[in-house]
Amino acid sequence: MKLRSSWIFIALCTSCLCVTAQTGFISIDCGGSKGYVDKNGISWDPDGQLSNNVGTIVTVTPPPSAGTTTPLSTIRYFPGDRQNKYCYVFNNHDHGVLKGVTYLIRASFWAGSTLPYATRVPNQTTFQLLVGADVWDEVSIGLPQTGREEIRELYLFASKDTIDICITGQATGSDIPFISSLVLRPLYGNLTSVQSMLNAARNRAFLSKHRINYGAASDSDYIRYQGNDLGDPYDRIWKPDIQGPILTTNKTVATDVYDHPPARVLQTAFEMSDSFNISFPLPLGTSYHFTLYFSEISKEVKKDGQRVFSLQVLNGSSLFGSLVIDLYKLSNNTRNGAYIAYSIFPMYIGSAGPASFVFTKQKGSKFSPIIAGLELFQVFDKDMSLGTDNNEVATLKNITSSYPNLDIWTGDPCLPFEYNWLTCTNNSRPYISTISMNNQGLSGEIPESFKSFKALTRLSLAENKFNGSIPDLSSLVYLETLDLHNNNLTGPIPNFLGGLPALTTLNLNNNNFSGHIPRNLLDKVATSRLNFSFEGNAYLCNEGSTHEFCTTSFGSNKKANFRLIVGTAVKCAFLALLII
Ligand SMILES: *[C@@H]1O[C@H](CO)[C@@H](O)[C@H](O)[C@H]1NC(C)=O
Ligand SMILES: *[C@@H]1O[C@H](CO)[C@@H](O)[C@H](O)[C@H]1NC(C)=O
Ligand SMILES: *[C@@H]1O[C@H](CO)[C@@H](O)[C@H](O)[C@H]1NC(C)=O
Ligand SMILES: *[C@@H]1O[C@H](CO)[C@@H](O)[C@H](O)[C@H]1NC(C)=O
Ligand SMILES: *[C@@H]1O[C@H](CO)[C@@H](O)[C@H](O)[C@H]1NC(C)=O
Ligand SMILES: *[C@@H]1O[C@H](CO)[C@@H](O)[C@H](O)[C@H]1NC(C)=O
Ligand SMILES: *[C@@H]1O[C@H](CO)[C@@H](O)[C@H](O)[C@H]1NC(C)=O
Ligand SMILES: *[C@@H]1O[C@H](CO)[C@@H](O)[C@H](O)[C@H]1NC(C)=O
Ligand SMILES: *[C@@H]1O[C@H](CO)[C@@H](O)[C@H](O)[C@H]1NC(C)=O
Ligand SMILES: *[C@@H]1O[C@H](CO)[C@@H](O)[C@H](O)[C@H]1NC(C)=O
Ligand SMILES: *[C@@H]1O[C@H](CO)[C@@H](O)[C@H](O)[C@H]1NC(C)=O
Ligand SMILES: *[C@@H]1O[C@H](CO)[C@@H](O)[C@H](O)[C@H]1NC(C)=O
Repeated sequence: MKLRSSWIFIALCTSCLCVTAQTGFISIDCGGSKGYVDKNGISWDPDGQLSNNVGTIVTVTPPPSAGTTTPLSTIRYFPGDRQNKYCYVFNNHDHGVLKGVTYLIRASFWAGSTLPYATRVPNQTTFQLLVGADVWDEVSIGLPQTGREEIRELYLFASKDTIDICITGQATGSDIPFISSLVLRPLYGNLTSVQSMLNAARNRAFLSKHRINYGAASDSDYIRYQGNDLGDPYDRIWKPDIQGPILTTNKTVATDVYDHPPARVLQTAFEMSDSFNISFPLPLGTSYHFTLYFSEISKEVKKDGQRVFSLQVLNGSSLFGSLVIDLYKLSNNTRNGAYIAYSIFPMYIGSAGPASFVFTKQKGSKFSPIIAGLELFQVFDKDMSLGTDNNEVATLKNITSSYPNLDIWTGDPCLPFEYNWLTCTNNSRPYISTISMNNQGLSGEIPESFKSFKALTRLSLAENKFNGSIPDLSSLVYLETLDLHNNNLTGPIPNFLGGLPALTTLNLNNNNFSGHIPRNLLDKVATSRLNFSFEGNAYLCNEGSTHEFCTTSFGSNKKANFRLIVGTAVKCAFLALLII
């Protein structure tokens, strides 16, 4: 079979690219108390502010592999079922998040031997991880946790200049969630294969499934950023594969190749038998992107045609693509040259079997197939959500930022599920349709910004300490319910209420309104099914008014029920006005 058009193959020659400093790295130590620099030169910051100081911090014994300076020695967990998501929000202002840049995002979880709380299933904790308005993945960890930390990593194209990473709370039926660390690494467009794949997959995120360094000397030799030419400049973590025979070189190998693998990945390789099959059992029904790294590091290979092998990629039992690699030639006729193969369209794995990479030595080739590294990504099944309408989000933030009780709610208000005190329309970019901020101890004046929620049908601010008058909400043309009972609102009842076309329930009980009940509101009670409750207000009619003025407005088939508390010829006060 010929090369498929869905493949691109890049051959590059030797040259050393010096690693740039860790510009743009964001490294958060969850539960950490202060900033520090670890042995790899990565600067970690504590997560106090990012977590809104919600949750509880516990010290844990880090895994033996982690060394002494590690973010894995503390966790932050989020007990309580009040919030259904706990988010870390990275923005442009504080963290330099850039719209239009692709990020590697990695969350790590290390519980140690046990968690300081009960889980639904003994010795196991399970919760969900969210990215922005989408579900990222499920995290399920057996306890006591052994080996290395659990990691979730994805590549995300930032469509805004904020990135929210959230874990779900008990309110979604999960266990109490915890987290050890969170990192963001800007990739700009540098990782060519990833970027072209992201473009082809219309900016779907990729989950990193496998990232392997073949020919590693030891199974504890993970490669990541280490502040020099040998580490990974993007802080990808490469898992060692120690199966042999192993080829190694100490000579410089080109890293200035597509996707810039670290030198140490290209300096070791696994030399296979004449025919070899590298296979990954993967979740079915989804798409994958892969990148394979080859480098010719054997002293024995001196010319074209000496190491020639075919590579067949199988999704299940069908052939996704194939090619023949003459490695010396493809590395531009240099020893220590590198060669990279990657998919530019996702490989779909349907109902049948794993992904397999089958290598076969070609006739006339002196040497067997080799491989230096491999990356395999799962492409998200759907486009990343753009989330709730931007104006709605900004308005909500404007309101909640005044109230510490509500300001801890971060992340997308509607997706992938709603905050538990509001509901949203069923659009791909939702609007907020109901808000219930009852009994939250909210005080001061009711924010006028509520008027900006275009699709609002219900606004319930009952049982707080709001004072002042009702702001102008006349733009809320879909508002059906306005519930402001048990506050300390004063002033006249505003005229616009009678003009709200959709209003069916208006509860102003137990406030301190005074002045007129507007004529149009009384008309509305009389002519429509508006349920208007007005108990517990001191109501003063204007001079010349009588309570009959009000009663007659209700029409003959309605009955107004009010109690006179100040009875003079010119003034009357109602304690209650109840229309039945
Ligand atoms: C490798 O060789 C090919 C063909 O000669 C050339 O097009 C390509 O630019 C070379 N790659 C590098 C990185 O020099
Ligand atoms: C479950 O965890 C407890 C400690 O929390 C431990 O003593 C016990 O051995 C664990 N059980 C299993 C099956 O791992
Ligand atoms: C990645 O790309 C940016 C912007 O093009 C560049 O400044 C940076 O040096 C590149 N980093 C690496 C490690 O190649
Ligand atoms: C590479 O260098 C190390 C130490 O510097 C040495 O132990 C090893 O034998 C060298 N390997 C090769 C293949 O030259
Ligand atoms: C490769 O290995 C996998 C797992 O062992 C197997 O299912 C698959 O059939 C093999 N493919 C080939 C072409 O040998
Ligand atoms: C293999 O991949 C191709 C292209 O992505 C797809 O059309 C085909 O259905 C896949 N086969 C299986 C068995 O998943
Ligand atoms: C936030 O609210 C204040 C007062 O309610 C208002 O003046 C301001 O314009 C609002 N800002 C935004 C961005 O909505
Ligand atoms: C939301 O809309 C989708 C498609 O428009 C529909 O399939 C789904 O049932 C709707 N959900 C609700 C709760 O209305
Ligand atoms: C409303 O209450 C706040 C304190 O919560 C107070 O500062 C303000 O003066 C009050 N406004 C009115 C109109 O009573
Ligand atoms: C309501 O507001 C008035 C005037 O600001 C104040 O005197 C009274 O204590 C407040 N009542 C409550 C229950 O907050
Ligand atoms: C109602 O408001 C008036 C001032 O407008 C204030 O004197 C009175 O204390 C308030 N009543 C209550 C019950 O808060
Ligand atoms: C009217 O509203 C009040 C308070 O919200 C409620 O208790 C009552 O049941 C409602 N009556 C009708 C007929 O809906």
